[in-house]
Amino acid sequence: MTNIADFVAALPKAELHLHIEGTLEPELMFTIAERNGVPLPYASVEELRAAYEFSNLQDFLDIYYAGANALIEGRDFYDLTWAYLERVHAQNVRHVEIFFDPQTHTERGVPFAVVVDGIGRALDDAEAGLGISSRLIMCFLRHLDEAEALETLDAAMACRDRIAGVGLDSSERGNPPGKFREVFRRARAAGFTAVAHAGEEGPPDYVWEALNVLEVARIDHGNRALEDPDLVAELARRRVPLTVCPLSNLKLCVVDDITAHPLKRMLDLGLFVTVNSDDPAYFGGYVNENYIAVAEALGLSRAELAQLARNSFEASLLDTDAKSALIAELDATVAAAQEKICNFSAN
Ligand code: ADE
Ligand code: ZN
Repeated sequence: MTNIADFVAALPKAELHLHIEGTLEPELMFTIAERNGVPLPYASVEELRAAYEFSNLQDFLDIYYAGANALIEGRDFYDLTWAYLERVHAQNVRHVEIFFDPQTHTERGVPFAVVVDGIGRALDDAEAGLGISSRLIMCFLRHLDEAEALETLDAAMACRDRIAGVGLDSSERGNPPGKFREVFRRARAAGFTAVAHAGEEGPPDYVWEALNVLEVARIDHGNRALEDPDLVAELARRRVPLTVCPLSNLKLCVVDDITAHPLKRMLDLGLFVTVNSDDPAYFGGYVNENYIAVAEALGLSRAELAQLARNSFEASLLDTDAKSALIAELDATVAAAQEKICNFSAN
């Protein structure tokens, strides 16, 4: 009989909440920083890893933005993205929707096109060589003002074909979604899908605003929505996907303990939840480790784990045919695992 880790590993799945800058492992950070002559404020990989103790989102963001300073050339973005794709290929990830933060790079003088081209070439190679499909979503940094987000949207129009969506990330408290009403309106009018981080640290009102002012298709995180029963009912009624990130929530103290994670409650409330890794190089696990952590801590059944994988395809930006093909593969995998269990029981 397969154990839970093997069952999770066998499931085809999509990852929908992943910041590419958050996949920069310390070893690669040192390699890239060295070749670019960028000094790092840590003497070694070990010292850097030891700094990954966070009390909240801002603690993490300070280190995450410092690490991203190493990225300058197109090949840095290529190497970063390729390393992530190889890792998740080994985890049976079949489709990825990747966030990047253009302003983190353009404000240091790295051209928008260099970032998109480096990431994009790795995505093309993954489609051809690893069978992983993808979409790219550019996030506006919410600690900056809307005028800067509007400039970023203008810059993105030169790479329009490469970018499927816009998102909103960085420091949530004090930066409500409504601050970005106009830039999201223009982005939606230009055909970008809109998503936004909301309810990670911010109150349920920020989730309402993301839905009703930014008109997002998905909410990234959404944990604090559970504090408002009317919001839970609305999310369930509209079937809005929530891209939940359990190990991120643990490392950023959104939950005190993984056994207190709300994922099981979200499922029981009928919410359309998916499991994702957010910034895996910083939070101690890629997507499979996130599934396994909640499976063990919350006692999720195999049916619930399969439902999460199914949700990941259904909530994606793939077209209907691509979703159906991947879900058929998922169903076949689950049926084969079930048969193994039955044969084991019968013998
Ligand atoms: N940027 C990278 N990871 C983030 C997170 N978890 N929340 C907000 N902004 C982020
Ligand atoms: Zn995130």
